[in-house]
Amino acid sequence: MNYQWYPGHMTKAKRMMQENMSLIDLVIELVDARIPLSSRNPDIDELGKNKYRLILLNKSDLADEAANRLWIDYFKSKGFHVLEINAKTGQGLRSIQGIAKEACREKIERDRKRGIKNRPIRAIVVGIPNVGKSTFINSFAGKACTKTGNKPGVTKGKQWIRMNKELELLDTPGILWPKFESEEVGRNLAFIGSMNDEILQMTELAADLISFLLTHYKEALAARYGMEDMDGMETPLTVLTHVCESRKCYKKGQEADYEKAASIVMEDFRSGRIGRITLELPEKTGTVKEDMA
Ligand code: G4P
Repeated sequence: MNYQWYPGHMTKAKRMMQENMSLIDLVIELVDARIPLSSRNPDIDELGKNKYRLILLNKSDLADEAANRLWIDYFKSKGFHVLEINAKTGQGLRSIQGIAKEACREKIERDRKRGIKNRPIRAIVVGIPNVGKSTFINSFAGKACTKTGNKPGVTKGKQWIRMNKELELLDTPGILWPKFESEEVGRNLAFIGSMNDEILQMTELAADLISFLLTHYKEALAARYGMEDMDGMETPLTVLTHVCESRKCYKKGQEADYEKAASIVMEDFRSGRIGRITLELPEKTGTVKEDMA
């Protein structure tokens, strides 16, 4: 399958970020916890050079808990500060202020030595489309305000959201595009729904996903579709056929509607109904289960 993004917007978004970078101390990079590497933009390391860095594993509620822990260790080992969050419910957001200060400790110390007091950390939120930047900014600004008892300084036309006296956020997130270094990256982005579904072959995509699930999350798949008596001979086609039958996906004349079954499987996966599933692990040394054991 040919995975496409929208290259037209890329340079503009990158230029906007570059222009803002001189004002920034801390880059808060959101990644999708289900595909933490495939949802990164490789330019971010160049753009965020000489900045303090914090990676947020967002949508951690949809990802495998054990895999989240592996990814936290991985990013820490690469020198990032890292936290798992759920921007939608606000889970994990309370720890951000402390980690941001920890990440910028050097700068805070330097300011203090120069007699500069109360200069807030200035942060930008960046990430690829759909990773949850707007949700994050909304709930983070909300949380901080409840916590400090202040009203958010969200003013139209103003660039900065003053969270409190120690932290300011640029109010428009930096939008970056993923780089398709491999077909696997493209496919991972398609799996989580970060690509225009209309240009994708849903049945092929669902078959690829089912193939992955049969290998790594067989029990969750079986439980979701009432296939507990699976005998190990299943293929993506037999699973899709089963979904067609059990969900009554038929075209006129009782012909199985595989496209509809494929959409059901993709939607179930994306909304977490099959379970908490991570599609890639830090080191590809073994199966998901082996690496997490
Ligand atoms: P963006 O600005 O980076 O493009 O992303 P945005 O905030 O618009 O979020 C994209 C989708 O991801 C939204 O769903 C949002 O609710 C969901 N989302 C963001 N963070 C989390 C999270 O931590 N966990 C889960 N489960 N979902 C998250 P949507 O379907 O577009 O909208 P809605 O149906 O949620 O309203």
